[in-house]
Parts: sequence; C-alpha cells; structure tokens
Amino acid sequence: MRRIAVLTSGGDAPGMNAALRTIAKVAGLKGIEVIGFEDGYDGLIDGRVRPLTERLADGSLVTTPELALAGNLGGTWLGSSRSSRFVTPEGRKLAAASLDGIDGLIVIGGNGSLTGAHKLAEETGVRVMGVPASIDNDVGCTSTAIGVDSALNIIVEACDRISDTARSHRRAFIVEVMGRHSGYLAMASAVAVGADGILFREQGKNEGELVTRVANLVRRGFSGPKGKRRILIIKAEGVEIPCTRLVRLVEDELKGDLPGVDVRATVLGHLVRGGNPSYQDRMVGGRLGMAALEALLTGETDQMTAWLPQQVSGGTPTSDPAVFRFGLTQVLEETRALLDGTSPVTRWRVAMLQDLEKALSL
Ligand code: F6P
Repeated sequence: MRRIAVLTSGGDAPGMNAALRTIAKVAGLKGIEVIGFEDGYDGLIDGRVRPLTERLADGSLVTTPELALAGNLGGTWLGSSRSSRFVTPEGRKLAAASLDGIDGLIVIGGNGSLTGAHKLAEETGVRVMGVPASIDNDVGCTSTAIGVDSALNIIVEACDRISDTARSHRRAFIVEVMGRHSGYLAMASAVAVGADGILFREQGKNEGELVTRVANLVRRGFSGPKGKRRILIIKAEGVEIPCTRLVRLVEDELKGDLPGVDVRATVLGHLVRGGNPSYQDRMVGGRLGMAALEALLTGETDQMTAWLPQQVSGGTPTSDPAVFRFGLTQVLEETRALLDGTSPVTRWRVAMLQDLEKALSL
C-alpha cells in the first residue's frame, strides 16, 4: 500500500482533525502517502485533493505543517459537505474515477457518510474504512462517535451559565440542543447539569403533552414545597415544536397560576459543534483513525472502527449496559498490576505507546 486518501463528511465534529493528524503521522511512519479530498464527497467527485503528508529531503514522510497545527482545532481542516451529488449513481461514478491510483480510503463522518462509504466499497472495489464522527451520537455499534464529548462539554458549560442567571431572576429556561433525530445530547447533558426535565423525540409526546409537561414542571418547581429558583428543561432538536411556540403555549397555560414568572428559551444550535476538541475526542479520534488505517493495511474493507472500551474481563453487569460491577479484591489486585506493570492493560498501553512514539516525533 503506497497511497491512501481520507475525507471528512457531513456535520463537522470536534476531533476530526485529531483523527486526520494521527492517520497522517502513523501512515507517514510506514512510508504511506496520505492525501485528503476537500469538502467531503463533493471534493471526491471533483477530484480536489490536498496533501496530508510531505516528503522531506532525507526521504522521510511527515505530516504537513498545516495539518500539524490544525490537529488541535475544532471543525474539519479538510472541509466537509452534505453532498447531494454523491447520492446519485452519476455522482458516485465520478467519485470512483477520483480513486484511481488510491489503495484505500478512510471516511470520517456520521451515518449518512458511512452509508456513502459502504456504497463506495461495494461499487468501486477500493478498500474503504469508516470512522464514526458526529456530535449526535447516532451511529450504531460504537459507544461514542468523535465530537460527542466536546459537544456535551459545551452544552454543560452553557447550561451552568444559564442556571446562574436563571436563579438570580427565578426563571424557567428551555434550552434546545442539537442532535437531529437523536435525543442523546439532550439526555446526557440533562443528567450532567441536573436539569428539571428533558424533552426528546423518542418519548413520542405530541404538542399538547409537551406543553402540559413543561407547564407542570414549572408550576411544581416554583410553587411546590422545594420553592426552586431555577427550572431548566433540555429540549432535543428532534422535538419538532419550535422553542418560541413552546414558550408561548406554556405561558398561556400558566397564566393566572404563576404571575410574574418568566419562561425563556435558548437555542444553542451550532455553538455546540465548534471549538477545540476535548481530550477524549482527540484521544478517541486518533485511536479510531489509527485502527482504520491498520485495517486498510491488513486488507480489510467495508467496515467501521468502533469505540467500546472494555479492557477488564469479568465483572457483574448492571442494568446500565456500560456499567459493570467488580469485587474489591479484584479491583485491588488489578490496581497493583496496573502500577507494577504486570497488568495486560499496562502492557498494552506501553506497547501501543512504544509504536506510537516513533510517529509522534515525525
Ligand atoms: O449531524 C450533526 C448536526 O449538527 C445535527 O445535530 C444537526 O441537526 C445538523 O447537523 C445541522 O446540520 P447543518 O449544519 O447542515 O445545518
């Protein structure tokens, strides 16, 4: 394998650049040139490319300085698109022509982009690997996608700020968060900020039920025994009623019950998609990208790398599929092994870092 390509597609997600940087570093170390197609599948169709690696005078292949800088930034350095041309067979034919001379393609994106990756693998015969990236966390078979953690951190910070001002004035706030058809960001952030309620599409509530639910939360919160000073309700974007309409209907329903109580709405929108990626998104992005590269090198295609960090065997499952229980004896034994280097987890970390170290200095 001499030359591979990458592209980022769909909604940008913080951590995409970290994934690109790691792919370029590790591929460069193995002597594989990496190019990127600009603006997702649109750039693939048009054959617009940008180098991710460059050859130095001593023959080594290294990450371009521009990508090295962009690796810590949000957005996507390669650009992205939601390509309407790529969904047509004619568009995909043009895209396939751009892949001539390329030994493998890594597609970093959400479910629409991964659908495209699957079609390319089927139709072109080029090896294609997908890497899940979408703040919505709506990609199957992985516990998280690149961008989710950063987006949640921004939502949490925004809600903490809104809570400060809400408490000062004894107000209710409805905060709408992105997520398209998935309520994940709303559910996860609501728990993290101690919200009073969550509205998400998957609940299947109609407009009347939503209004009653919010009105009841506000009524109970402000005039109930707790006498709250802040009501915070997180609404997922997938709940179709616009925030302004919801606020008006709730205020109509509350009229007379709670004079002087304000209900306000804030739509966080694209704010949560931007900004530098969190540690987790850089780390997950790099590792999912590296695994996708390795899969291409071993001849794999038409697959996606997934984040399912479960490194300790055993443990009793709980009602939460991501949470297991371990006896303290096992915990203490494993802790000792982690620290003295005999644990497979430590050995795996050391081996992985030894490999990576060579790429890090490139
Ligand atoms: O898929 C990511 C996402 O941010 C969704 O949460 C949102 O519905 C959509 O993209 C917005 O897309 P655009 O930026 O194209 O308006």
